[in-house]
Amino acid sequence: MRSVAITVNGERRELQLEPRELLVYVLRERLALTGTNVGCDTSSCGACTVLLDGESVKSCTVLGVQADGCEITTIEGLAMNGALHPVQQAFHEQHALQCGYCTPGMVMAAVSLIESGEAGSEKAIREGLEGNLCRCTGYHNIVKAVAAAASVTA
Ligand code: FES
Ligand code: FES
Repeated sequence: MRSVAITVNGERRELQLEPRELLVYVLRERLALTGTNVGCDTSSCGACTVLLDGESVKSCTVLGVQADGCEITTIEGLAMNGALHPVQQAFHEQHALQCGYCTPGMVMAAVSLIESGEAGSEKAIREGLEGNLCRCTGYHNIVKAVAAAASVTA
């Protein structure tokens, strides 16, 4: 076991982790933050995307111990004072989800894309989200939502 300290959604969490534990399971099973989903466990789908020190990462590809000293933001950390984050609001308004399974990861990837200034065109958004799979929507409304959120936050 190793002692790690991770700041998750602004709160410092101290944990004893086995080196083999994946960050996605640390979030879901140790910290009860089940908004981050597991779709494949093999780094293909993006359902597990979170922000690690502001960068989007697939949390099934990161060991919990690698997050020691880092800041993690999950979907639970986006809304502020009961108000949806602009990307969440845009997904709602543009009907950018159906079953919702991909949505937390898709939203976190979109937040990172917008914050890094890489959501300037439909092509850029489609390329930026290519690591996040959705089996329901056909992506059209997701791209519309990200473009709408990018224009609001620009
Ligand atoms: S569960 Fe991590 S990429 Fe699919
Ligand atoms: S909304 Fe169902 S997988 Fe994307």
